[in-house]
Formats: sequence, structure tokens, C-alpha cells
Amino acid sequence: MNQSKTYTFGILTSGGDAPGMNSCIRAAVRMATFRDARMVGISNGFEGLINGEFRPLGPRDVGGILQRGGTMLQTRRSDRFREPKGQREAIRNINEAGIDGLVVIGGDGSLRGAHTLAGQGVRVVGVPASIDNDIWGTNMSIGVDTALNTIMEAVDKLRDTASSHARAFLVETMGRGSGYLAMMAGIVCGAEMVLVPEVQLTVEDIAEAVEDAYRRGKTHAIIVVAEGASPRAADLAKMLDDMDIGFSTRVTILGHIQRGGSPTAFDRMLAARMGARAIDALIEGQSDVMTALQGRTIELLPLEEVIANLRPADLEYYHMAKMLAR
Ligand code: F6P
Repeated sequence: MNQSKTYTFGILTSGGDAPGMNSCIRAAVRMATFRDARMVGISNGFEGLINGEFRPLGPRDVGGILQRGGTMLQTRRSDRFREPKGQREAIRNINEAGIDGLVVIGGDGSLRGAHTLAGQGVRVVGVPASIDNDIWGTNMSIGVDTALNTIMEAVDKLRDTASSHARAFLVETMGRGSGYLAMMAGIVCGAEMVLVPEVQLTVEDIAEAVEDAYRRGKTHAIIVVAEGASPRAADLAKMLDDMDIGFSTRVTILGHIQRGGSPTAFDRMLAARMGARAIDALIEGQSDVMTALQGRTIELLPLEEVIANLRPADLEYYHMAKMLAR
């Protein structure tokens, strides 16, 4: 882009919030300030883009947010933006505000929205943020590490009560169609079993595995169940209750607690690097790309490639969780 022009960049968060979104906003605003660019904060994701909910964001406006979960810009899932009318209004507002480029922080649906805008001539850089870790091309998305730590703390506590009562606890984790969080939780929490959408088991298989843990002298069984697994944790608990598996069963649905909380050091670092890189990418004249952690570096990947692919489940971790549960 033109070196002598003072650029104005917009920034928004969209879809499910993820811990570290604030750290990313802060990094983008501060990097823009360092590069002599202006920033405009857009509230409520693509809805705010359609409604023209814009405000200037300076370096002091993003003070004290680095350590806070959620997003200071608020987030929404926008049905209106799926329609050409909503997109047209959004682009008109972008042009009226003199925005030269946009940073879109969010998950799969948000990155699709970013690509749609890029296809209509808006300069856009996407930043992957979703606790699900289901986005193609990046080893980690912002928020995943914090969510996993939240799950770990919860399961550690559940194990105390589970082993005191010789119970099997079914713990449901988020992740939509992805078993990533459940598999990782299985390893870091030492679960007896992990159920994920990517591996289909019968209720009899599950009952047999839990009973086997009982026979091997375990004082409890922790079964991490991804929300996308079938059957869901609550239904499975009812079925297991009617079978003799040694343990009595209880179910805990962790739910939205996994999306909150102060981001871990890993997430703050990832968010800082991606937010800063997104601004530099816009200044370099890049568009229709996403920041991606590959190895130790932040690369730029075409959004077209990102949204055309599903991140495959790494079943190596599923098998590892199983082997370490002996
Ligand atoms: O995509 C993030 C996520 O937390 C998923 O894990 C979950 O299925 C979904 O969002 C929940 O969405 P909502 O906040 O709309 O209930």
C-alpha cells in the first residue's frame, strides 16, 4: 500500500467469544498506532458493520483489557450478513467511514464472512479465534489453550469427588463437531475414556470399557464426552445407569464456562502476534488471508483455502489418551 498515506483500519470480533480476543484487539490497535495508522472499533461483529456501530479506538482505549476474557467490542452471530442486502449495507458503511482494511477476529463462520467481504473488494485479514480449534491451517486458534486449562481445572476437581464416591463422571466439553478439546482433555486430565464425534462407539463398548476400569481397581472413572459425540453425555448417563458397570454415574456439562476467564500466557502471546501481524499484513497490501500459526511462525494463508477445508481430527491424541488410561 501507499507508504505516505495515513491508513484507517477497522476491527471486529464475531461468532462465539474466545479468551484472548481482547489481547488481539489491543495488539492490533497498538501496532496500528506504531505504524501511524488509525483504528476504528466495530461493535457487535458483522451486525455492527451493517448498523454502522463504529468508534475510534486509540492506544488508551485498549488499556487494561489484555488480561480480560470476552471481547470489549462485543460479538454477535449475524443472520443479516448472510444476505446480499446486509453485505451491501456493511460495505457502504465501510466506505463511508473511509476504512482501508478490516481485521476480522473469529471462528469458521466469521472467516467465511471475511472472505465474502474480500470478494466484494474490501481489504480483509482474518484472525482465527475459537475454543473449538477446528480451523484449517493454523496449529492453534486464539482461546483454545485457555479453554483447555479451564476444563483441566474442572476435571481435577471432579476427580476428587468421583474417587471419594466410586463414581463414573461423564464430563461434556464444547467443540461443536470437533473432538479436539475432549481428546486433549483426556490426556491432560488422565481420563479413563474419551468420546469424540470422529470415533463412533456403541453404548455396550463404552459400558464394557468403564466396567473394565472398575475391574482393574480404579476408584473412579472420568469419561470426557465431546458435545458433538453421539450419544450426548446426558443421554449416555441414563443408559449407563441402567447397566451394571461397577460405578454409579453422574454427568457434568461444562458449557459456556469453557469460553470465559483470563487468557493464558500462550493465548495472550498468540493473540499479540496475530493481531500485530494482521495490521502489518494490511499495510503490506495483503487481503483475503488469515494469520496462521505454523511451526513457530505466523504465516498468511488464503482465506479461500481456509474455508474450503475442515481441520482433520488428529486421532493420534485419541489413541494416546486410551493407552495412558490403562
Ligand atoms: O464455536 C464455539 C462454541 O462455544 C462451540 O464450542 C459451541 O458449540 C457453540 O460455540 C455454542 O454457541 P452459543 O454460544 O451460541 O451457545
